[in-house]
Amino acid sequence: MKNKNLVSITDFSKEEIFKILNLAEEFEKNPNQNLLEGKVIATLFFEPSTRTRLSFESAISRLGGKYIGFTDAASSSVKKGESLKDTIMTVANYSDMIIMRHPIEGSARWASEVSRVPVVNAGDGANQHPTQTLLDLFSIRKTQGTLDNLNVFFVGDLKYGRTVHSLLQAMSMFNTTFNFISPEELKIPVEYKMFLDKKGLKYYEHRDFSDIISHADIIYMTRIQRERFSDPMEYEKTKNSYVLRKNMLKNTKENMKILHPLPRVNEINIDVDSDEKAYYFTQALNGVFTRQAIITSILGLK
Ligand code: CP
Repeated sequence: MKNKNLVSITDFSKEEIFKILNLAEEFEKNPNQNLLEGKVIATLFFEPSTRTRLSFESAISRLGGKYIGFTDAASSSVKKGESLKDTIMTVANYSDMIIMRHPIEGSARWASEVSRVPVVNAGDGANQHPTQTLLDLFSIRKTQGTLDNLNVFFVGDLKYGRTVHSLLQAMSMFNTTFNFISPEELKIPVEYKMFLDKKGLKYYEHRDFSDIISHADIIYMTRIQRERFSDPMEYEKTKNSYVLRKNMLKNTKENMKILHPLPRVNEINIDVDSDEKAYYFTQALNGVFTRQAIITSILGLK
């Protein structure tokens, strides 16, 4: 795994994914170690972030490394017209690894092709969010005791939701049954259905999930993402499509867990937060351990 880019979750084999998850378990027990002494990691965020950037920076800090970067491209020379290629080639001179979030699909792949240090995709448009997927897998395995044969419900924006696209690809390795619940306008794209068809996996599409919620092992809620819509009217039409409330959890499986990559807007009512089935804030914490595992594996330190 040393020096590998992580641009898409499909860049990692099943064995590599298990290595990351097992290592993350070790970091969960002992997150403060000096493994990154002398290392500098760049975090380039061309799009807003709370969890991904701060959990990466927390992971680096707890391992004794240093980080450089920006949280707003307007504070970098991109504002003066510098290309992504020139930015990446320059930052690669200053760092041992580049972690990048960018609004354009494919930008992380392009960055990895011009960088002389490994590139980790922290989200590229509606395409992929592989480090989120690894922490999602960690969270699912931790709560369910397995990744195999689960019934996973994806709810919300399945068209633009990069966390859904990456997690679907990863879960396809574990004989998952997929239930896709979305408004008509935000259905899971056909290429992902073809991907599942090729693997012979079962998937079902629904507009509502209140009458089937009792079958879920994992409910993966997502936000309707205002920033991905070119037509504001389309956003207005779909923004309140789903609100998960505590009273909907009555007939759910005892060990069912609710995940959400966050941020949320209104798709999970706050009365769910105190329910033992709500796992999303612990899921965000798991991002620190999982990202420690990703960084140290790619730098060949573990
Ligand atoms: N899950 C996630 O990507 O959150 P942020 O946008 O806050 O990084």
